[in-house]
Amino acid sequence: MEFSVKSGNPEKQRTACLVLGIYESRRLTPAAEQFDAACGGHLSNLLRRGDLEGKPGQSLLLFNIPDALCERVLLMGCGREREIDDRRFRKIAAQVAMALNDTGANDATLYLSDLPVKSRDLNWKIRQLVEAIEESRYYFDQLKSRKDAPRRPLRKIILSAPGRRELASAEQAVREGVAISAGMALAKDLGNLPPNICTPSYLAEQAQALALEFPALRVKVLDEAEMEQLGMGALLSVTRGSAQPAKLIRLAFRRGPATAKPYMLVGKGVTFDTGGISLKPGDGMDEMKFDMCGAASVLGTLRACALLDLPLNVIGLIPTVENMPGGRASRPGDIVTSLSGQTIEILNTDAEGRLILCDALTYAERDEPVAVIDIATLTGACIIALGRYPHGLFSNHPSLATALQSAGHTAYDRVWELPLWDDYQEGLDSNFADMANVANNRDGGAIMAACFLSRFTKKFHWAHLDIAGTAWKSGKAKGATGRPVPLLTQYLLDRVAEAKGKP
Ligand code: BES
Ligand code: MN
Ligand code: ZN
Repeated sequence: MEFSVKSGNPEKQRTACLVLGIYESRRLTPAAEQFDAACGGHLSNLLRRGDLEGKPGQSLLLFNIPDALCERVLLMGCGREREIDDRRFRKIAAQVAMALNDTGANDATLYLSDLPVKSRDLNWKIRQLVEAIEESRYYFDQLKSRKDAPRRPLRKIILSAPGRRELASAEQAVREGVAISAGMALAKDLGNLPPNICTPSYLAEQAQALALEFPALRVKVLDEAEMEQLGMGALLSVTRGSAQPAKLIRLAFRRGPATAKPYMLVGKGVTFDTGGISLKPGDGMDEMKFDMCGAASVLGTLRACALLDLPLNVIGLIPTVENMPGGRASRPGDIVTSLSGQTIEILNTDAEGRLILCDALTYAERDEPVAVIDIATLTGACIIALGRYPHGLFSNHPSLATALQSAGHTAYDRVWELPLWDDYQEGLDSNFADMANVANNRDGGAIMAACFLSRFTKKFHWAHLDIAGTAWKSGKAKGATGRPVPLLTQYLLDRVAEAKGKP
């Protein structure tokens, strides 16, 4: 999709579809009012007759408007003017996107950036509109022999800005929306691919393909022999039951000053999680193909960074394995030595995410990172605790947690912080090793997993995102969401702004 911004009056737009907002009850938005005046009160007549109340979700498509330069007008109900919050605006954006996809219009001009969204600026609205339109056009039909994506002639979207002064920053907002959407699409594709295609080797190939596409990216893939050499006993214990070789992918984006320390993103890449010998129940097990969505979000975020050419150094680190039961698989009771030297008693082979992440986190120390964020579909308990809206957030550094909360708010890809108190740590005590990989009860499962990881992150500022509830949708809309690419990209955009703000 091609996006551009434009200032100017709605009635002057030669466009296949002009999109205007209508408030409840039957009130024109300022842009709709301007257009109405130019077409002899056509819209206000229509509202007076009761054809559109302006409730959220209502819409009306009009043709042959007297004296108009546009071919069609799409009137979109926006609800009460004073009630337009983030959620409402995003709904309106999604509904406009859906309605436009159903028309025969090749292009559309949207006058929605002037809707008053509480404490949000023009750029936020522009970015949300771009993301909603891109989201509505995402289809995953690579593996259907008959492509069922509908015919959609829409090619070009023009977004209104109040004046010329706002154009440059609105164009930047468009670029950000486009880059974030492209990153999300990559994350969704990788998540949606079946586990017989999207294996650890496949993820490594995708990282290599990304590095070929963008010269600022350098990739290195460690194989099992190299990991053995290093002493990654925890990571390697997970892959033992699988016929697929494990990989550790390191993808470095270097566009910051040569001496600037990197931000690091570490993504869980379990391409299928059967639970191993602690086998999961069969119901819904197919969804464990999404257990690599943390890894996918790292690749998606690096793609967004590259598209935006952010002046930062960012390293993506992806430990990727398949967790299968097999003759060589780890048993409950096995004790392994992690790269950090700490020994771990594996009491449950289904708590495998923390085993691969702990070695990747120790490996991250070598790059002397400014901050490390790991992203993982780590615990079912996180879904029980928080539901499916926010990512679970844990951190050993309060200002990093604050920065992520703020980025989550800006990107509308929100987080909720849970405690990492020392009180919980004794739950991981083992009689036979330095620690167990699970606690002996189900209390605070998401917290216990984070506590485990915290034992491997003492040397840097670290945050952990548990995306078990947010990385994909179940049921009829089953599919990867592309989250938290918006959050992570925003976090990095904020770091760029912060660096610019410094003298
Ligand atoms: N990948 C799962 C977590 C998960 C489960 C995410 C369901 C989303 C939906 C993870 O590897 C896992 O199995 N965790 C266990 C931990 C337990 C054994 C302590 C869990 O959550 O049950
Ligand atoms: Mn598991
Ligand atoms: Zn898992």
